[in-house]
Amino acid sequence: HSADALRTDLMTITRFVLNEQSKHPESRGDFTILLNHIVLGCKFVCSAVNKAGLAKLIGLAGETNVQGEEQKKLDVLSNEVFIKALVSSGRTCILVSEEDEDAIIVEPSKRGKYCVVFDPLDGSSNIDCGVSIGTIFGIYALTDVHEPTIDDVLLPGKKMVAAGYCMYGSSCTLVLSTGAGVHGFTLDPSLGEFILTHPDIQIPKKGKIYSVNEGNAKNWDGPTTAYVQKCKFPEDGSSPKSLRYIGSMVADVHRTLLYGGIFLYPADKKSPNGKLRVLYEVFPMSFLMEQAGGQAFTGKERALDLVPTKLHERSPVFLGSYDDIEEIKALYAAEA
Ligand code: AHG
Ligand code: MN
Ligand code: MN
Ligand code: MN
Repeated sequence: HSADALRTDLMTITRFVLNEQSKHPESRGDFTILLNHIVLGCKFVCSAVNKAGLAKLIGLAGETNVQGEEQKKLDVLSNEVFIKALVSSGRTCILVSEEDEDAIIVEPSKRGKYCVVFDPLDGSSNIDCGVSIGTIFGIYALTDVHEPTIDDVLLPGKKMVAAGYCMYGSSCTLVLSTGAGVHGFTLDPSLGEFILTHPDIQIPKKGKIYSVNEGNAKNWDGPTTAYVQKCKFPEDGSSPKSLRYIGSMVADVHRTLLYGGIFLYPADKKSPNGKLRVLYEVFPMSFLMEQAGGQAFTGKERALDLVPTKLHERSPVFLGSYDDIEEIKALYAAEA
């Protein structure tokens, strides 16, 4: 069949979201418009990443962000692209980016109800060697009309109305949840469209992979140390887990979603709150994990219950397959 070789009924991401919206008669297409602007940003960054070496986009931009990290040229470029795309959508009122210390309050004439938190370019350290990187976003919505403030985004992750990421890898993949499962779309470069390729992603209940920067082991706490030891030397007769660590959260989480297992960025003595940022790294990924049937835990509580008090707050995170997260939860509970 020609249909086997070539897809002819193209479920684009826009068509998919419009379908979902048609179930809510009150919706007026605002979310679809917002998403289209996010998609445009992803396509732009994808194309910039693909020609990074050619277009002199490799290397440092010469500035340091509020996290004290040296910004790469692609960090700065991606940030600009997403801010412009989000503001011009006319559907946002406040934006929080990893690369900007303060929240961006959208000018009144361009405002809509959505609040977007994002990591424009995740995995910066992998840019210059051509390893997968990504963009992460989370979306809150105002429930009434008022002057936007940071309190509109300093909310627990469970209040997000949507979250997703785009991975610039061997193909460009956008993974999205609006609270009704997790769906993956792959960019068809010849069409310039994201096509539904991974409907209703479910993370395996238990996995065979653990993913962590083990170079920090010297400074880990007891439960994390015990957990990783169990991955390598299981006491119940099961096989040891394999270790995979890319160092781009998007790529490590994407593999975890599809193959199962656990990704952890725990606290350590040097970084008592871990490294990953609550609003635009921990929350969106935790939202997707739960929607796919997995779990996300901070070492103390369900990650999506955490109430951030600062825009760039960090938190330890353990996320992945349901059963694997149960194990780490038990180790932290035993210690408490
Ligand atoms: P970013 O590039 O957006 O600053 O994020 C980097 C993060 C994340 O992508 C990854 O999981 C983590 O840093 C890796 O950290 P280590 O190099 O400490 O392992
Ligand atoms: Mn960074
Ligand atoms: Mn990041
Ligand atoms: Mn980043």
